[in-house]
Amino acid sequence: MNWKIFNVSIPVKDLEKSKIFYNDLLGNNTVDTEFYKNFFSDDNEDLFLGSNGFGVRLFKPKHDLELNDNIQSRRSYVSIIINDFESVLKKLQQSNFRFIYKKINSFETVILQEPSLNMMQFIKSNEILDKYSNDFFENSNFYIHHMNLESLDVRESVHFISDLIGLKEGNWVAPNDKGDFSIDKKELSLFPISNDNKGLHFIKPDEGFAFRNNFIHNPSIGGHPAFTVKNINLIKEKLDNLNILYSDANVYAMPGFHQIYLYDANANTLEINQEV
Ligand SMILES: [Fe+2]
Repeated sequence: MNWKIFNVSIPVKDLEKSKIFYNDLLGNNTVDTEFYKNFFSDDNEDLFLGSNGFGVRLFKPKHDLELNDNIQSRRSYVSIIINDFESVLKKLQQSNFRFIYKKINSFETVILQEPSLNMMQFIKSNEILDKYSNDFFENSNFYIHHMNLESLDVRESVHFISDLIGLKEGNWVAPNDKGDFSIDKKELSLFPISNDNKGLHFIKPDEGFAFRNNFIHNPSIGGHPAFTVKNINLIKEKLDNLNILYSDANVYAMPGFHQIYLYDANANTLEINQEV
């Protein structure tokens, strides 16, 4: 299965304030006001940072009982473009797994909760999206390196993603000076889209993760998107100026990537990294 990360949706209280924060943090200079709407219901107020659906969607959760036969996530969630959408749809139907199928204009999507109840969206690839993907990667100051999902049963999540969605599990690539965390596949799993840990990460919550690694933030709890930027020192300066705490993990989990962790104003965990 060929696949790529399309965007991440992040729940926020104040769309305008969050827009300023994320634009500044990621060095984003584009905004998509129309195209991304092909992939999302209009249940939630939202806005999009990035181009043609590639980037970050900020959305405002509403009261669950105001949703009409729809679901919303309280956590950041990922939308993924897959090339063999038909076979995924067929497998989901045959397995009697509950999901929401939507077709907006000519774009088909499926929304579901994997076994650990992380909301995920899968979108059918096409030539337009391929072109927009190339445009985004050529012009954007950031890209989504991975989406990390907390899973209470990593193997159950992995089997679901492997068997029903058809993504292929890989092996974690650890650096020489690895931090104090487990890469046992029962505790951390990787669905790679490259050979440098880009893709989808499933992790079992590890209460001691932050303590053992001298971090403020625990990246194994609650999931997080990871954004790759060009200059992480600039990000650290910005965060210092804003008095926002961050955990500077340096290179500890993935060879060639300097990572930091922080919370946005809504306590969403974020990872920012830079290739080094
Ligand atoms: Fe991460």
